[in-house]
Amino acid sequence: MAIGVFDSGIGGLTIHHALVERFPKADFVFLGDQANVPYGGRPGEEIVELTRRGCERLFAEGCDLVVLACNTAAAVALRRLQQTWIPGHRQALGRPVNVLGIIVPTIEAATGLPWEHEAERRGEKVEKLDVLAVFCTPATAASRVYEIEIDKRRQDVAVFTEPCPNLARMIEAGAPRADLAAEIEAHVKAVTTRIGRAPDRAILGCTHYEIVGDLFRAALKPGTPLIHQPQATAEALAAYLERHPEFRTGDAGTRRFLTTGKPGAQHALVETFWGAPLSFEPA
Ligand code: DGL
Repeated sequence: MAIGVFDSGIGGLTIHHALVERFPKADFVFLGDQANVPYGGRPGEEIVELTRRGCERLFAEGCDLVVLACNTAAAVALRRLQQTWIPGHRQALGRPVNVLGIIVPTIEAATGLPWEHEAERRGEKVEKLDVLAVFCTPATAASRVYEIEIDKRRQDVAVFTEPCPNLARMIEAGAPRADLAAEIEAHVKAVTTRIGRAPDRAILGCTHYEIVGDLFRAALKPGTPLIHQPQATAEALAAYLERHPEFRTGDAGTRRFLTTGKPGAQHALVETFWGAPLSFEPA
């Protein structure tokens, strides 16, 4: 039994890295749907179906739990799959399985409040507004999940979402750093102009962006805190597993990497981030 980690491509490795460090003994299977990356510009129903297929594949590999290490899939597909597909699939497999996302832990980290908390003090005077920029794919931006869920919990946080339509594709293709830096600078500038000043904090709301987190840090006002999605997800998974011992994670420490795209090594940007050579099997 193992923990499955799913993304449209290599971005999910940023979450995977934190999970592997947090659960060194667990068995992991990573799946990148690189034949279909990027998801961020696709219609919602396509994202749901691609995500469902990815999860099905990981369950077939023996995973009990699948973490959607992809904001786009989590924002668009997670609730649908949990409501309409997982219950029947659980029955078909005859074992407990589930799919978890990364947005809930990120919002908990951004608000400093547990998910169950919703603001009761509407109408109270806000002394100081905390402006939060979210960089993400167009599909995540269109879902408005960060605005809606943060607004429900914190009256003193204003969310400005900046869709970055090219960035995941460029990172996936291993674009030159100078091109990535220029693209990121343009988005930081665009959101800063829209806000009217620099944001106080930021979320890299697409797992691919963490691979070039240093370029975001360089483009944002020095010292702007970033909410760390991989860390938040690892802590949330630890708490979930504690509450749900029925999900088995394995104990041999195996790591498998599957791709629907080109098997073998990934480009240098990924290996530098991961810190070791990686070889992908065909999915
Ligand atoms: N890494 C993904 C995310 O977190 C998806 C990027 C894409 O496929 O467009 O949103």
